[in-house]
Amino acid sequence: MDTFNFVRYTPRGRLDGTVPVGPAVADTVSRFHRGLPGYEPTPLVELSALASKLGLGALYVKDESKRFGLNAFKALGGSYAIGTYLCGRLGIPADENAFARLRSPEAREKLGELTFVTATDGNHGRGVAWSARLLGHRSVVYMPKGTAPERLDNILAQGADASITDMVYDDAVRHAAAMAAEHGWILVQDTAWPGYEDIPARIMQGYTTMAQEAADALDRPPTHLFLQAGVGSMAGAVAGYFAGRYGAERPLTVVVEPDSADCHYRTAKADDGSLHAAAGPMDSMMAGLCCGEPCTLSWDILSACADGFIACGDKYSADGMRLLARPCGADAPIVSGESGAVTTGVAAAIMTEERLAPVKEALGMDETSRVLCISTEGDTDRANYRKVVYGE
Ligand SMILES: Cc1ncc(COP(=O)(O)O)c(C=O)c1O
Repeated sequence: MDTFNFVRYTPRGRLDGTVPVGPAVADTVSRFHRGLPGYEPTPLVELSALASKLGLGALYVKDESKRFGLNAFKALGGSYAIGTYLCGRLGIPADENAFARLRSPEAREKLGELTFVTATDGNHGRGVAWSARLLGHRSVVYMPKGTAPERLDNILAQGADASITDMVYDDAVRHAAAMAAEHGWILVQDTAWPGYEDIPARIMQGYTTMAQEAADALDRPPTHLFLQAGVGSMAGAVAGYFAGRYGAERPLTVVVEPDSADCHYRTAKADDGSLHAAAGPMDSMMAGLCCGEPCTLSWDILSACADGFIACGDKYSADGMRLLARPCGADAPIVSGESGAVTTGVAAAIMTEERLAPVKEALGMDETSRVLCISTEGDTDRANYRKVVYGE
């Protein structure tokens, strides 16, 4: 429960050989997102009272529970991948008018009804189903065993043909790929493997809108960036964006995972040029982060610009959920779910737990640090949220 493993990492390799996720791409991507119904930048909340209590210079939390009314950031990726895929088929630009053009009767006539398929622990599938529905297409969504029923219901509500399987996440991904091949469906998976890279690269690029919004809301770069990882696509995209935008001034970047799904931590610790999968059952409540195999494309970025990796128990996620729900002083509360809150929980623990003093020192965190965390989801499992935050 309170495991906390840390490894300091020396990044190597070059960003320019990886998927482009820098400011130029983010400009293009955010133009596309501006054309989506309900688009507006999510709030970047400054928690000044909590920062001074923790001994930090500043703490910023980006609240992705406000994204498109979907309670998580993930639709940024699925919508961009589906949108640009369809734009490519129609030969139209993926600009701010693209979404409206893709919904037109002419587009529908040319494309017919397509089926998009994916595997998801909740948020990505909801974003894919939402995008497919808005564009008048079908979606099929496979979920791993143990998925909270509320997360399934949210996807069914978007009109998807969705089901909870008896597979772990990584096997559900293989199943979705096999079904796509068998039925001629389009696989929209948020992780890459050799030979399947185009769509996951666009999904990662989709996340750069979130990174750009956060950077634009700050008057100077943060000194520390904490990013949670499942397959790592989000962490890779955001870390790569900040590295591209700020170069040598980029924030020190730390990737955070559940200890039972610690594939990035293991890969960084082994540091032998191979990717290492997590072993054993992935039983963390951080469902969005329960992925055992890193995304190959995002690892290329993280290995070039991540400085530390943490694998921790659910305690840190629960602490983060409570800290954000009941903040200090005049700070605004944030509804942050299991996968969303863990980075804030970890940053707070580093500043306050005696046993983590070596981590604090290794990361150079002190009263001059300006820390950025992203609360990537709200209360996507409300029963568990109430249990953790209110003890109900
Ligand atoms: C809320 C939330 N945060 C973070 C992540 C991690 O994203 P990635 O799998 O790209 O590492 C996910 C993935 O599903 C998620 O749902």
